[in-house]
Amino acid sequence: MKIENEELKEIIDLWDLKKSVKKEIFKLLDKKSINSPSWLFRYYVPEGKKDKVGQLEKEFSDKFGVKYALAVNSATSALIAALVASGIGPGDEVIVPGYTFFATASSVVVAKGIPVIAEIDETLTIDPEDIEKKITPQTKAIIPVHMRGLPANMDRIMEIAKKHNLKIIEDCAQADGGSYKGKRLGSLGDVGCFSFDFFKIISTGEGGMLITDDENTYIRAQSWHDTAACWRPNRFARERMPGELFCGENYRMSQVHAAIALAQLRKLDDYLTKLRRNKKILMENLKGIKCKFAPINDIEGDCATCLILLAENAKDAKEISEKLQGEKVPAGGIYDKNIRDWHIYKYWEHILEKKTPTEEGCPYACPYYKGNLPKYSVDMCPKTLDILSRVISIGINENWKEEEIKNIAKKVRNIA
Ligand SMILES: Cc1ncc(COP(=O)(O)O)c(C=O)c1O
Repeated sequence: MKIENEELKEIIDLWDLKKSVKKEIFKLLDKKSINSPSWLFRYYVPEGKKDKVGQLEKEFSDKFGVKYALAVNSATSALIAALVASGIGPGDEVIVPGYTFFATASSVVVAKGIPVIAEIDETLTIDPEDIEKKITPQTKAIIPVHMRGLPANMDRIMEIAKKHNLKIIEDCAQADGGSYKGKRLGSLGDVGCFSFDFFKIISTGEGGMLITDDENTYIRAQSWHDTAACWRPNRFARERMPGELFCGENYRMSQVHAAIALAQLRKLDDYLTKLRRNKKILMENLKGIKCKFAPINDIEGDCATCLILLAENAKDAKEISEKLQGEKVPAGGIYDKNIRDWHIYKYWEHILEKKTPTEEGCPYACPYYKGNLPKYSVDMCPKTLDILSRVISIGINENWKEEEIKNIAKKVRNIA
């Protein structure tokens, strides 16, 4: 069945438009004479039809200063594709931080690798000192995660990667558009992975992006993301180079998601500018408070979606967060012993207990794995739990006016 105006009406119906406006648009769309079928598949776009996915990839790679961008359907997909494309698989260990959404670690298992969980430091990103301690002969990659839009310490991480010949796959799911020392996050390592899910800076409901400068990685990522090989200039041709074709999955993005992403991408820098301005004003008005600001690896590149304060202990952090909430300040803690959260390694039972979908226990029982499996336990990263328990996170709003921020700062000053 052709995709015509009825489908467009359903999409418009999703948008929160005034009833009268919707009625007008629907009236116009009811004229059959303007009915022309749409092309929503990302490949084989006929002449005269729009290729929003191609356009998105072009604009994304230009903005992020990389050679290749591959649109996918989530950051989870991007991470798995990045690992596979980088040649990581059976027998390999990948170091991930103990504070990140579970998908970072699970993507390693899906790619048949072994996740090794490392501590974070007070920047809420992976602790480079702990990375060094976790490296073994099996280590093949590190996934630094720019949590809450806060850039990881990329100088140190790249230094370690160079010394030990490791791949760096940046998880930028929570940091679309952020940067580190003038370079966009995702463009510093070997591969960058982004999320456009509903709760992210760029949102298309679901969606993601993979970026790289390496052609071979890009080709392999395309293969994995579209096992039907529609991405190739000649779909049914034989393999043009070793490693080009193998069985993968389907992570293709549709033209509808790309259309929304394009609009979001064009608004990105303006949005980040507003967030950064408001965070700066808030910080200036909080100078000298007793709770300290969490250190930031690059304050200019921080996405500024939140301000992280660190209390002296968990009890103080909880008390302060609750009082701030009572004053309608958008604040909260991160780790509370009594609340389960997929962002904290302690609750990743799937990994801690090495749960697998079939009883053979791959990848943990993989004969190619020659190392000693990590000793997973709920208290394996005590520093991470201590830091997270002391966090008070204040959400930044891009629409705040200066007076509003001063008012919030006053409340925070009184309480914290
Ligand atoms: C740090 C991090 N990595 C990966 C993901 C996975 O993103 P997606 O929902 O697009 O698969 C998320 C999503 O919450 C995330 O926060």
